[in-house]
Amino acid sequence: MSTHDGKVAVVTGGASGIGQETVRQLRQAGWTVVVWDRSDAEGAVPVDIADYASVEAAAGQLDGIDLLVNAAGIAGDRQPSASKSPAEWDRVMAVNLNGSFYTMHALYPHLKARKGVVVNIASIAGMMMAKGRVHYAVSKAAVMTLTRSLANEWAADGIRVVAIAPGYVKTPMIQRSIEAGELDEATMAAAHAMNRLATTEEIAGAIIALAQPPFQFMTGAIVTIDGGYTLGK
Ligand SMILES: NC(=O)c1ccc[n+]([C@@H]2O[C@H](COP(=O)([O-])OP(=O)(O)OC[C@H]3O[C@@H](n4cnc5c(N)ncnc54)[C@H](O)[C@@H]3O)[C@@H](O)[C@H]2O)c1
Repeated sequence: MSTHDGKVAVVTGGASGIGQETVRQLRQAGWTVVVWDRSDAEGAVPVDIADYASVEAAAGQLDGIDLLVNAAGIAGDRQPSASKSPAEWDRVMAVNLNGSFYTMHALYPHLKARKGVVVNIASIAGMMMAKGRVHYAVSKAAVMTLTRSLANEWAADGIRVVAIAPGYVKTPMIQRSIEAGELDEATMAAAHAMNRLATTEEIAGAIIALAQPPFQFMTGAIVTIDGGYTLGK
């Protein structure tokens, strides 16, 4: 028996990258994990977090939950703002911002039932900027404000809401940008004081740690996990 038997988590974006590794580590620790992802990867409940009806239907299948990890997100295109299409702006906001709000909104009764924890995935892009990705940076800044706002509202219900702000993490999202010639791994690594990208294992481990009792007095915090990126060079 693990101490986490009986604990239930919902992980959005659990079919790839940070979400997938979070699912693996939670299951290894004995949690029951429900994966919500728009990809049809094995084991995922098909949910488009940008579509409230889809989120609401999936939430209706659940009872109390102890943890929501909002790991689904998209990087969007890399274009200067003046040539970025409004449709592309809307697409990134719909997933990264609306999706994070929709899942929290629909799962609120289930989180309240078990005094659960929400861990949102923001980004250092939301504290600084992301070249050619104004929509991404703004969506992540908004996720930080969403985190603080709902942490304040839901503290009375015993629900904690925190966010992490990672630097670059070696995931399929980043791999796609490298392959598209938008990002170069050595240049990305050099932007971090630690001169490397994070692994998904490191980020998932931090997400899970924040959901545990040692952090029970933490709410509304944005935890930077960036190998020293935001320290500057
Ligand atoms: N990789 C990085 O360097 C990095 C850095 C900071 C923050 N983040 C954030 O971490 C999160 C995870 O990123 P990743 O690198 O693991 O990406 P990833 O592309 O490997 O995985 C993202 C997952 O989200 C799912 N998803 C996308 N849109 C969805 C939707 N509308 N509904 C349901 N599922 C959807 C995808 O199918 C995929 O399984 C994202 O929010 C990303 O912005 C990533």
